[in-house]
Amino acid sequence: MVKVFAPAKINLTLHVTGLRDDGYHLLDSLVAFVDVGDQIIAEPAPDISLSVTGPFAQGVPTDEQNLAFKAAIISGYPMALTLDKRLPPSSGIGGGSADAAATLRAAMRLGGPQMTTEHALLLGADVPVCLGSKPTRLQGIGDMLTPVQLPALHMVLVNPKVEISTPKVFARLERKDNHAMPETLPQWPDSLAFTDWLGSQRNDLQEPAAKIAPEIAAVLVSLALSPDVLLARMSGSGATCFAIYPDRLTAEIAAAQLAQANPWWWIKTASTLPN
Ligand code: C5P
Repeated sequence: MVKVFAPAKINLTLHVTGLRDDGYHLLDSLVAFVDVGDQIIAEPAPDISLSVTGPFAQGVPTDEQNLAFKAAIISGYPMALTLDKRLPPSSGIGGGSADAAATLRAAMRLGGPQMTTEHALLLGADVPVCLGSKPTRLQGIGDMLTPVQLPALHMVLVNPKVEISTPKVFARLERKDNHAMPETLPQWPDSLAFTDWLGSQRNDLQEPAAKIAPEIAAVLVSLALSPDVLLARMSGSGATCFAIYPDRLTAEIAAAQLAQANPWWWIKTASTLPN
């Protein structure tokens, strides 16, 4: 039996730089992983099975519709899976992709065949980056991955409990040919300099997502007004937003204040996992 953590994926930047003939968008995104996530428990079994527990278990499919189940099929290694669903679904921080990647890692840890980017891509554009779960510059549609060294970040994640459809957000994006990040990324001496630089970059999906779900704008305003905040931005196609703070304590204080004012929002303090 193995337990594999499925960390949330945060798109610190997300530039949409083009559109492929097959409808997939070309991206240039800095991705980090944090100490908040789902968990997969897996053990070898004659047939694949999946049970789901945790605060967001309700409504999560337990058959081939679930990416973790599909990942078990792709792995070629039958397992009985338990998914502890702690991340809100369809929320821009990778939940389903992280679960799928954790399932591929579980199969390998149990002695199954080696899983590659190509296997992961069969499960979705975000699964390859989640397979590594390391700070990465993601390009192409999610298939071109370059490891990066990032300073540690402390943040608050907020989801207004709105599920948002990724294809709808991409469809709402007016310009598909936005600037990429600089070809050579700068060297950041510390977290403050890095966060300052992040402020000069973007998430191109933030505006179209906020048109579909106005709650996103409300979350971003609340984060931008929270004490000691350095940067507030949406992750992925939303609706989860993150804000960066100077250290873990200031992030925890901001999270507590936000939770008091908005008891119905999902709010978590998170720190990036080491490089
Ligand atoms: O690959 P995945 O199933 O996660 O993608 C969900 C949807 O998001 C795709 O069907 C596509 O509409 C959109 N997408 C995209 N460009 C990407 C990644 C996803 O247009 N690079």
